[in-house]
Amino acid sequence: MRVRAAVLRESGREAPYAASRPIDVTTLELDPPGPGELLVRVRAAGLCHSDLSVINGSRRRPLPMALGHEAAGEVVEAGAGSGFEPGDHVVLAFVPSCGDCERCVAGRPALCGPGAAANGQGALLGGGMRWRADDGSRPYHHLGVSAFAEHIVVSARSAVKVDADLPFEIAALFGCAVLTGAGAALHSARIQAGESVAVLGLGGVGLAALLMAKAAGASTLVAVDVVEHKRELAARLGATHTVAGGPEAVERIREITGGGAEKVIDTTGVAPVLRQAYDATRSGGTTVTVGLPDPEAQLSLPALSLVAEEKTLRGSYLGSCVPRRDVPRFIELYRSGALPVDALLSHRLTLDEINEGFDRLADGTAVRQVVVL
Ligand SMILES: NC(=O)c1ccc[n+]([C@@H]2O[C@H](COP(=O)([O-])OP(=O)(O)OC[C@H]3O[C@@H](n4cnc5c(N)ncnc54)[C@H](O)[C@@H]3O)[C@@H](O)[C@H]2O)c1
Ligand SMILES: [Zn+2]
Ligand SMILES: [Zn+2]
Repeated sequence: MRVRAAVLRESGREAPYAASRPIDVTTLELDPPGPGELLVRVRAAGLCHSDLSVINGSRRRPLPMALGHEAAGEVVEAGAGSGFEPGDHVVLAFVPSCGDCERCVAGRPALCGPGAAANGQGALLGGGMRWRADDGSRPYHHLGVSAFAEHIVVSARSAVKVDADLPFEIAALFGCAVLTGAGAALHSARIQAGESVAVLGLGGVGLAALLMAKAAGASTLVAVDVVEHKRELAARLGATHTVAGGPEAVERIREITGGGAEKVIDTTGVAPVLRQAYDATRSGGTTVTVGLPDPEAQLSLPALSLVAEEKTLRGSYLGSCVPRRDVPRFIELYRSGALPVDALLSHRLTLDEINEGFDRLADGTAVRQVVVL
């Protein structure tokens, strides 16, 4: 079928993207779904910094690529053995999990070996690409999703069924920002009631972490960002203190928490800020990072402190979530009012406005924007 999709042909073009237009909204041919695959009509797709990192070249992916990885939509056609029906509403997770590899069997589907391999190749879990351009080339899939398109073919292993009454623009956020941020707070930081917590970076992922920290009962909750309106939003969402981002943030967090926060979550994707997060962590505490820095970036730490201060440093991919378990749980928390993720949604846009949307993400104007399709 013929589908309008947002294709990145070249990375590293100069911002503003409204002028350089790295993303081309074009018509592609989409193959039908194979066994275990779904044809999904995308209804909402979120703009994440991980998309921006492919656009600006700090995260290198095979190109051309039909971009986007945070989406919700409706199943139009279900391949044999997919376990879904036409009409099902789905949220897509950005790691397909095969269910059979050693990491999946160990309960760590975010680390699925075949899923990571397919994502690295820009292919679907079942192998190969389903997109075809009019010049005969085969654009790659972004993280098994390619969210910025009217219709997509995905592995059923990327999809989680959700209730049909959840608005698509809210549902989409669960696919990346909420799984990643809330999961980092719950599964990776394991925040306990009464603990002190600091969150560095208040984009979609950081604010989702902040909301889960609040829901988990963090007592002192410090929100750090370089952008003032994001700190103000964090305060409205329950942060007890806000701190301007920068090297001085470490001392401020230590003052507020009386020697460092017990749990510090870095969502900036900036390696020196991860070091600040580590320095702002109290002895015996845990630093969690979800940010995806440039692959060349290195982190250096005072090695003794890890031992003598019994600190823990943890990476968190997909919030260490099990999407089929956690998407429904997090949606229940949203419905109960404990996780008001609708507050993250700052802009709605059309597919044709996508370059302008990435300018707003890059310059800090937007929190989470959703393309409504
Ligand atoms: N681990 C995962 O599974 C996973 C999933 C999704 C996104 N990510 C990564 O998480 C990061 C956050 O994603 P996002 O979509 O929320 O991005 P975002 O751009 O919306 O948010 C990042 C925030 O960090 C802030 N920031 C930048 N420099 C700072 C500094 N020095 N001090 C304090 N704050 C600073 C920015 O102002 C911004 O608000 C990105 O690196 C993204 O690639 C990781
Ligand atoms: Zn993302
Ligand atoms: Zn697997």
